[in-house]
Amino acid sequence: DAQKSGYKHFMLKEIFEEPSCIVSVLTGRIKDGRVVLQELEPFEVSLKELQTLKVVACGTSSHAALVFKYFLENMSDVTVDVDVSSEFRYKKPHIKPGSIMVAISQSGETADTLESVRLAKKYGAKIISVTNVLGSTLTRESDIVLYLNAGPEISVAATKSYVAQLVMLYLLAIKIIQSKESTGKRDFVDKLLRLPEVFENSLKGAESIHAIAKKYKDFKHFMYIGRGYGYPTALEGALKLKEISYIHATAYPAGELKHGPIAMLGPDFPVFSIIPYDSLFQKMKSNVIECKSRNAKILAVTNDENYELKELADDLIYVNTSDEQLYPVLMTPAIQLFAYFVADELGLDPDKPRNLAKSVTVE
Ligand code: G6P
Repeated sequence: DAQKSGYKHFMLKEIFEEPSCIVSVLTGRIKDGRVVLQELEPFEVSLKELQTLKVVACGTSSHAALVFKYFLENMSDVTVDVDVSSEFRYKKPHIKPGSIMVAISQSGETADTLESVRLAKKYGAKIISVTNVLGSTLTRESDIVLYLNAGPEISVAATKSYVAQLVMLYLLAIKIIQSKESTGKRDFVDKLLRLPEVFENSLKGAESIHAIAKKYKDFKHFMYIGRGYGYPTALEGALKLKEISYIHATAYPAGELKHGPIAMLGPDFPVFSIIPYDSLFQKMKSNVIECKSRNAKILAVTNDENYELKELADDLIYVNTSDEQLYPVLMTPAIQLFAYFVADELGLDPDKPRNLAKSVTVE
């Protein structure tokens, strides 16, 4: 109990440690508008010429990988292929000698990710790993290690390590871009510097999220939807809810609703919508209207600047931000806290969900 520092569960404590994790990841890694990742020095030349990157990960780490893909592809000409490790390891790898693979694993011990790395190395890839555990197997098998320094994560469901992964992956993406064009993306680097302060706002809504969780805890199904940067957040939201509350939750890019999932919606199937006021807001709004017309309850995460959703949504969670590229990190506490409070209200222990392990070390 002492280790929980007054929090009821490690999961809640770890969510509230996210601001300090962001500081740890950023400390010493930005100088004069440039990302400094000394670990990557031996790769400086390959990064300059980089055209494609392979990324492997499992679970929550694979959602961080997806954010990385959206971000780097939107900001540069680099193509990012993301595979879930358990799939990558049994496919034809399409790895050229000297190519780079990024392996993301909080624990550094996930069996499928380790096997993917071994396979890629056999074909001549160099490995950059993003991990939280010093001395883990993954660190020993990688060419370069980017440590998250997020501190031990006790709760089975990943929370602060996900936020730390996202911030590290933004740094890696910017580093790649700046290897190609040295003055690139300084405005985004400034945003990263302000992130710890801005992020504090994301945790301020905890009590209102608790109240919303009480209202929704007895539903048996949830649909999470998002577009663009909101899509990985929807995936992670559904995963968190499943993991710790055992409620069936599914996630889709909102544009896919019409291709099947909307058939399931009705008064018993709420829609958790990630709908920031970004370039895809109007598209998302149309999707939410479609869900509403099936009598589904609408729970939406959005940002302060728009009130258009007020009439449409049954419940709103506000996140105070206007940085589209940073939505994945800033909206994450909302989905984590919602899952946490639902599980706790159901009398479940979010730190030790049934059937799950912190690290899946066997296939
Ligand atoms: C397990 C954990 C998840 C985690 C996944 C990948 O399933 O319960 O929280 O996201 O493994 O773990 P890794 O350590 O490779 O990030």
